[in-house]
Amino acid sequence: MSPEIAAVDELFPEVENLYAHPSVHRELLFDEERMQKYSEAIRRVVKKGDTVADIGTGLVILAFMALDAGADHVYAVEQNPTAIRWAKQVAIHNGFENAITFFEGNSCQVELPQKVGVLVSELIGHVAFEEGIIESLFDARNRFLSPGGKIIPRSVQLKAALVEEQEVFPGYIQVWRNLLERAKSSTSLTVSDLQVLLIDAFFEGDLIGRLPKHCYLKTFEEKEIMSQPQTLFKVNFEEGEAPKSLETSLDFIPSRGGEINGVALWFEAELAPDIVLSTSPLSTSTHWKQCFAPVLAPIPVDGKKPLLVKLQLKPGGKFPLSLEIKDED
Ligand SMILES: C[S@@+](CC[C@H](N)C(=O)[O-])C[C@H]1O[C@@H](n2cnc3c(N)ncnc32)[C@H](O)[C@@H]1O
Repeated sequence: MSPEIAAVDELFPEVENLYAHPSVHRELLFDEERMQKYSEAIRRVVKKGDTVADIGTGLVILAFMALDAGADHVYAVEQNPTAIRWAKQVAIHNGFENAITFFEGNSCQVELPQKVGVLVSELIGHVAFEEGIIESLFDARNRFLSPGGKIIPRSVQLKAALVEEQEVFPGYIQVWRNLLERAKSSTSLTVSDLQVLLIDAFFEGDLIGRLPKHCYLKTFEEKEIMSQPQTLFKVNFEEGEAPKSLETSLDFIPSRGGEINGVALWFEAELAPDIVLSTSPLSTSTHWKQCFAPVLAPIPVDGKKPLLVKLQLKPGGKFPLSLEIKDED
């Protein structure tokens, strides 16, 4: 396997106890676009004297921003025991310990002493919803937020476009397909040996017709994008109720002829009115990059006929994404 290919980040399965790794928090704090957009939104929304709840406080950066914007007090909730230990030290070192009350545990299991005017949170995953933002923010809104209170982010949407991906697919996924073809005419390798390999590496269950269970992090180049982007799901935290399922089927029209081998996925989070944090390939880059969700075999397209994209997300599931792309003929 070539070094470029080994360097591709597989998104699922996730790293265990992710937020007990200092490098993960470092990546968040050094993401200038993320920090800039959150700082703008918090300055816009938080008013002098507000009480704020920071759901998933990590190293308390959003709590600091809220205090800086004039908040009186922040309730900082964090479920990771290592992260909350660091967070308390950071608060003491910066002289904020009296302005922040820490609550250790998952926000859905925590009680706050009073309702708050603003909820701030950054629980946005690479495919937007896989870090539990829906469950956590709707619960926090229903139990912690005063009537008319504000939520940062107000809404999050997952976007997608068809792609002819030119790095992971030819260099990584196609390799296994080629091996399988070779095995069919080989005396020493059997298809079933390779099926086991393939299943371990990429697929659940039977080989034929199954969907990839993995998703890859990468930065797409414009030339790889093969359709207009569309919104797959939009979740509005300030209004309405949590969606019961995230499952959609949408037609995408390829913008030119070629071979579609998956979709690019990214999100747009409206942090405050007109303040949008976007991880689109055309926006300022962030640590989230984009996700590449591949299909098993490339689909030739002529640039005219639509393809049907079916995508299901299972928030909190071990492999939370399933994708099917169908030529409707
Ligand atoms: C992406 S990090 C963001 C940390 C920090 N707010 C920031 O912006 O740098 C998410 C943090 O939220 C925590 N977390 C996720 N869901 C939570 C929940 N429902 N209740 C409490 N903590 C949660 C994680 O352990 C992690 O530390």
